[in-house]
Amino acid sequence: MSGKVFLIGAGPGDPEYLTLKALRVLRDADVVVFDRLVSPEILAMVPPDVRRIDVGKAPNAHAVPQDRINAILVDLAARGLTVARLKGGDPLVFGRGSEEAAALAEAGIAVDYVPGITAAQGAAAATGIPLTHRGLACGVRYVTGHRARNRPLDLDWQSLADEETTLVVYMGVANIAEIADRLTAHGLPADTPVMAIANATTPREQRLVSQLDRIGADVALGGLEAPVLFIIGRVVSLYRELPDCLPVAAMLAETRVAGHG
Ligand SMILES: C[S@@+](CC[C@H](N)C(=O)[O-])C[C@H]1O[C@@H](n2cnc3c(N)ncnc32)[C@H](O)[C@@H]1O
Repeated sequence: MSGKVFLIGAGPGDPEYLTLKALRVLRDADVVVFDRLVSPEILAMVPPDVRRIDVGKAPNAHAVPQDRINAILVDLAARGLTVARLKGGDPLVFGRGSEEAAALAEAGIAVDYVPGITAAQGAAAATGIPLTHRGLACGVRYVTGHRARNRPLDLDWQSLADEETTLVVYMGVANIAEIADRLTAHGLPADTPVMAIANATTPREQRLVSQLDRIGADVALGGLEAPVLFIIGRVVSLYRELPDCLPVAAMLAETRVAGHG
């Protein structure tokens, strides 16, 4: 009889953001298959007798191709094992969880989802920046800033350049200058505040407050360690800690002092 695969969200990094169900499944599993974004603090909670398989992908370099990951999951479950497939954040938010589920379903393997806190919500909790706020943002959109090699960023800029909606950009660090340019070209004010947050909710967290016409240059100065998330919109003006846009080096220094943990 074949086993089962649990597609589990590990949350943004802080192990206390793991759900009780995720923890139970991790403890009961025969094997944990995990991604690069799963924090070391969370991996430390996997019992030592549970086998671990690292299928982590470095940015722009798939350490293990997605097809191979699918095959690994099918193979383990076909051998009757209970598999905990552990992903950063939520498995169904830019997590390719649905692709893995489709491959498993095709092989006749049972799948269960365990949701996780997505990076946007982790970042909001870490900084106190609300994703919506009466009078500032009546909605929020999550988009990817990643583009396939040599392909243009394929986003609906006109609808994204909306002052009343918070924009959260995942996987955007390489293209943030272009994203900011496109948003301003489509009417978002150049002084719209932007928060870049790296490794949100972990002891390695870094924050950078900027604005649309400067974020590209600020990020290019370096210093932010992946993964990085951008919150763009008027809600960022509610961030309490930093006054108006210090130079980036000063911000990063201040962040280290004021950072998490
Ligand atoms: C492939 S996506 C995975 C998203 C994940 N499934 C989620 O729900 O958060 C990877 C991107 O998520 C964002 N991300 C994930 N964890 C993060 C964290 N702790 N801090 C900042 N950004 C994070 C970054 O934008 C990163 O490039």
